[in-house]
Amino acid sequence: MAAEQENVGNLKRKLAKLFQLSLDATVPGEPDIEPQVAACTAKFGDYQCNNAMGLWSKIKGRPGIEFRGPPAVGQAIMKNLPQSEMIESCSVAGPGFVNVVLSKNWMAQNIQKMLVDGIETWAPKLSIKRAVVDFSSPNIAKEMHVGHLRSTIIGDTLASMLEFSNVEVLRRNHVGDWGTQFGMLIEFLFEKFPNFEDVNETAIGDLQAFYKESKQRFDVDAEFKDRAQKAVVRLQSGEQMYRKAWAQICEISRREFDQVYQRLGVHLEEKGESFYNPHIPGVIEALTNQGLVEESKGARVIFIEGINIPLIVVKSDGGYNYASTDMTALWYRLNEEKAEWIIYVTDVGQQQHFDMVFKAAKRAGWFPADDRQYPKASHVGFGLVLGEDGKRFRTRSSEVVRLADLLDEAKTRSKAALIERGKAAEWTEEELEQTAEAVGYGAVKYADLKNNRLTNYTFDFDQMLNDKGNTAVYLLYAHARICSIIRKSGKDTEELKKTGKIVLDHADERVLGLHLLQFAEVVEEACSNLLPNVLCEYLYNLSENFTRFYSNCQVVGSAEETSRLLLCEATAVVMRKCFFLLGIKPVYKI
Ligand code: ARG
Repeated sequence: MAAEQENVGNLKRKLAKLFQLSLDATVPGEPDIEPQVAACTAKFGDYQCNNAMGLWSKIKGRPGIEFRGPPAVGQAIMKNLPQSEMIESCSVAGPGFVNVVLSKNWMAQNIQKMLVDGIETWAPKLSIKRAVVDFSSPNIAKEMHVGHLRSTIIGDTLASMLEFSNVEVLRRNHVGDWGTQFGMLIEFLFEKFPNFEDVNETAIGDLQAFYKESKQRFDVDAEFKDRAQKAVVRLQSGEQMYRKAWAQICEISRREFDQVYQRLGVHLEEKGESFYNPHIPGVIEALTNQGLVEESKGARVIFIEGINIPLIVVKSDGGYNYASTDMTALWYRLNEEKAEWIIYVTDVGQQQHFDMVFKAAKRAGWFPADDRQYPKASHVGFGLVLGEDGKRFRTRSSEVVRLADLLDEAKTRSKAALIERGKAAEWTEEELEQTAEAVGYGAVKYADLKNNRLTNYTFDFDQMLNDKGNTAVYLLYAHARICSIIRKSGKDTEELKKTGKIVLDHADERVLGLHLLQFAEVVEEACSNLLPNVLCEYLYNLSENFTRFYSNCQVVGSAEETSRLLLCEATAVVMRKCFFLLGIKPVYKI
């Protein structure tokens, strides 16, 4: 993701710019050498440039080349590096790695500047203006299960990271509000509630139970099944009574979903499957005119190279399906909404579906041939949620786990832990409630986000609510502790920011400072590669680096108090931004 504007906070990009100049000077005739700059893992420096070896194999043996191997190329890259206040010193190691040690004065100044100008100045600058994130997307009247919880949590984080990067994000809830299940639901509604128009959620009670009951009827009663199938046709042809009943069922479902979103603090905008219905025929026609749609076994399909099953866009009975809707939604997002990046968050089970949709779109010329260019579409897949028994996460009676129950339990458990720590006596009831919620919901979210999303993860309350280890509880406590250090000092950080000065003389101060400065490049990486766990790992390491600093460097009452308080403040600011991006509410005291 190429950034066009100057990226204030991104060290890696700043260094890459300098190395670009050096590479151009080192091998003047060689176009398109991209600087390979990475943070160092060894102790030789903070960053390194890894171009020497690759460059050597490109140029060796050419007339006029005087280098004798990669180390000499490395030496030349180092020598040609322009002077910069960023850099303290350089060295060449092994087969030509150029190591850079950053200037600690420059580092200190930049952290201070962020404190004064705000963390927004460290936001990544992406080359796109508008994106769609299609996430959560449960199905009406069916259960919203833990898979949807994962999609909601991961999608929200990706949307927030893009928004932080100044991309306008259309947060789309592509709810399954259209399909054959509605025939049976509507007929069942008519049967149970002849005055269905007055029916609300209290009368229907539990929509999932309602769904189950009607499904049972559908499976055993042939006459009912027949009526249900006819009802689908009547709904789809727009018959008013059927439309009304449909709208009512959707509304009840919607209210249930909204409660979960409200508790999670997630904002979404619903454009369900039904929204795209009016556009489907036109899109299929256009694809047909392009010669992409073929007849196959009575259905109309698009063949895709390398995949042995085609994408069915019109079923053999003439009806539309999940793929017709997704092709149309993609068309709409590109042409009507003018989105440049369209991101879909679902379980990995749907990977092939999206692969086919994207490839069909590419055949239609909706995307450029070069995958790195925009507009583009990405599928963000995630693994299963497992129970402690290692099997698919279910309740004891092997029912689907209800999200509301999960959130209740997370909150109850974290409240109990707070009470055990004597907080009931110290805090107001409101404070106790709010903290229990922030910690409980934060724990659920973080446990999901910290793993690489493609792996399955085990849902384990004891583990996620542990106050030690890589958990939200540990991180939230760490943040609260920093706030308490600042409070105890009695100093006003707003004042210190302007008058004080940060110095990074102690080794642990420097390590913490460098980590803070890497925030921008980490968010950019997490966002560009659609990997929230990268940000989680950063946050956890930040907390560890802070702990080391705090154990070895006295803050309050020391000669370096002002500088160290500012480092505490900068750490708290960066942590809060990470929490915000991960959808976790920070707590200030514990
Ligand atoms: N409703 C689908 C499900 O529950 C997810 C929809 C994902 N988005 C999409 N555009 N297909 O599996």
